[in-house]
Amino acid sequence: MLGGKKILLGISGGIAAYKTTFLVRLLIKAGAQVKVVMTQSASSFVSPLTLSTLSKNPVLLDFVNEEDGSLSWNNHVELGLWADIMLVAPATANTLSKMANGVCDNLLLATYLSAKCPVYFAPAMDLDMYKHPSTKNSITKLESYGNVMIPAESGELASGLHGEGRMAEPENIIKFIEKHLAEGLPLSGKKVLITAGPTHEAIDPVRFLGNKSTGAMGFELAKKAANLGAQVILVSGPTHLSIEHSGITLVRVTSAREMYEACHKVYPDMDVAICAAAVADYRPKHVASEKIKKKEGNMHLELERNPDILLSLGESKKHQFLVGFALETQNELENAKDKLQRKHLDAIVLNSLKDDGAGFGGTTNKITFIDKNLEIKTFGLKTKPEVASDIWDEIISRIHA
Ligand code: C5P
Repeated sequence: MLGGKKILLGISGGIAAYKTTFLVRLLIKAGAQVKVVMTQSASSFVSPLTLSTLSKNPVLLDFVNEEDGSLSWNNHVELGLWADIMLVAPATANTLSKMANGVCDNLLLATYLSAKCPVYFAPAMDLDMYKHPSTKNSITKLESYGNVMIPAESGELASGLHGEGRMAEPENIIKFIEKHLAEGLPLSGKKVLITAGPTHEAIDPVRFLGNKSTGAMGFELAKKAANLGAQVILVSGPTHLSIEHSGITLVRVTSAREMYEACHKVYPDMDVAICAAAVADYRPKHVASEKIKKKEGNMHLELERNPDILLSLGESKKHQFLVGFALETQNELENAKDKLQRKHLDAIVLNSLKDDGAGFGGTTNKITFIDKNLEIKTFGLKTKPEVASDIWDEIISRIHA
């Protein structure tokens, strides 16, 4: 699992630092490339020279390097980007707290903030420090940022006390990371585009044509995908919903044409695209620049067609797995199958307005999933998060087949 992986080992200043010599040995033996960045206090516990010999790479301690009378800059951004995995071991209470709070007063912390890869940390401290609420807070915060803790083990501590707080043994650290990687999330490394919500088509500066879509289904699909490891671009029309997730980039648009542009900009790079938005099929041909005044008699609005985003994505499809939605009131299955083929889809999700609880606005939905081989699966009435889960199960089983 670790063969060929670039591992950046961050060592902070605790007695367990002496064990990192064995850790580096094991990582190298497992076929990893290792670079070490350490804090000044860590260098009192373990020699940088030992670590650089074992890792076959220079060990970095500070932003500025002084060598043979000349100064050079250790580029933390480059280091952070180099790594496939960052492992902070031992992670002292001090370093954990600084990592959790964005403090950046040494090279290890700056590198941590620059790293885009998964970060593991192996706490090491005395038992009461490990139990302290502030340490627990730091750990919870770090985990909420997506960092992964390798739990401390129990045993004799440097203080002479006995309890939980010893850094996990190097062999166990390696086992932990290997297991974690093997469990790899099913959508990790996948890029996903999702459209959601209604579109608003301007009539004048204060009026628009719209529909009742809330965006809930699309937002749930985005959340589920990100939790399964995907990097998600969620293009949403006007909605009250918001979302905070490190795996989701939310792009807010208003009209169908804006949604079309936002989708095509990213589509070539995507692995999966799901169009769950209720896009207005028509827009007013002329948008008044001033608020339209009422007059005697009727008023006629001339409408023109909006681009069909899903169809255009189907037509420019290369490797993407493309999924559409169909909200039908009659001949549901036949219409959905027709749409699937006409728009070059890999699958279509049908929700029928005839089913109570399905469709716009509500918290539940009832769907039928149809793939391009016309394999049909009908689900019962479920909450939208459950429906999102079912849809992703169906997609994942097909993209991994
Ligand atoms: O053809 P119909 O509008 O019923 O198809 C619905 C599907 O097409 C949905 O997936 C919807 O997001 C998508 N769509 C679109 N652009 C449009 C109209 C619909 O992407 N202009």
